[in-house]
Amino acid sequence: MRLNSLYAVLLLALLLPCMAAAQSLRGALDWLPRGSLNLHDLTTRPAETLSGGEAQSFYSEFGRLAFRSPDILGGNARKAGLSCQACHANGHVSSGFFIPGLSKQPGEVDLSNALWHARAENHRFDPQKIPSLRGVLARPRFGFDQRSGSLREFTREVIVMEFAGAEPDALLLDALVAYMRLLQPTDMPDSAITLRSELAELARFSRLLILPLAEEDAALSARITGMLRGQIGFMHERFDQAGPRTILEQWSLNLRDIATLAEAGEWTEARRRRAALTAALLAPPQMLLEAENASLYAPDRLAAWLKRR
Ligand code: HEC
Repeated sequence: MRLNSLYAVLLLALLLPCMAAAQSLRGALDWLPRGSLNLHDLTTRPAETLSGGEAQSFYSEFGRLAFRSPDILGGNARKAGLSCQACHANGHVSSGFFIPGLSKQPGEVDLSNALWHARAENHRFDPQKIPSLRGVLARPRFGFDQRSGSLREFTREVIVMEFAGAEPDALLLDALVAYMRLLQPTDMPDSAITLRSELAELARFSRLLILPLAEEDAALSARITGMLRGQIGFMHERFDQAGPRTILEQWSLNLRDIATLAEAGEWTEARRRRAALTAALLAPPQMLLEAENASLYAPDRLAAWLKRR
């Protein structure tokens, strides 16, 4: 019993980096006003059409992952698990986004509010519509007030001034801009957020590790494994059964091990583990897939869960 609870504490400590990044559900309950979660945005996502299709450079794929990673922001946004994706879902608009006290209409939010960053508080309730980033490449200026002529500079300000994040390095800005530039206008319909769609995303993102492991760049490997663990954290919080949670925890620990091997210079083994992990993500255990209906990926269950909050 003792050993078991010690093990549980240890496991929790290991998982903390990903729990802290957990998106939406529990993060929002802890760090945002009540009523900040909405069923629509948690179950449906706009289409994403990238010019050039899915096969992209390391930059834009890394930008795509960073766009979905709360870790690049600071303050309450990060704690609540909000990333760029929380507002600009798939580079478009989270049309249900609503924070009591900060939004007038769904799809609007006041960004000059101390909830995000005390230094940016302007003492006015001035929510703005969340703009779609589709076709952003063609725009000459950015911001509702056209305040910036540079997407890169605007993105830095979003991170540092609006969301109290740490100064982004050149790679992060290059990557975010490379990703946003690919976002095309599209007529494709919204799609459902499902366990399978999230697993496919995770498998896609796990391939991002190929490059830093080939370049033998331990710092970049650690950065990407951290972001991937954050994505697993989003999935983890939709389950309360031990079986599927254990599978996800194991994948998170595999990522931690890959970063540790990279740090130790054991590149061959790190590469082997990355390939094995991607293969596992592409052929997930039946038990995990079968648990979807009993999880918060099931819209009726999620609706009931939200009502109780
Ligand atoms: C809490 C919601 C929220 C989050 C999180 C968020 N944004 Fe925004 N974003 C907005 C709103 C609202 C606007 C419009 C207000 C403005 O222009 O300042 C906007 C404007 C923008 C624009 C200008 C688009 C244009 O055509 O004028 C860009 C680019 C952008 N965001 C990128 C990002 C990136 C990159 C991130 C993550 C680093 C991010 N946003 C995170 C809500 C958000």
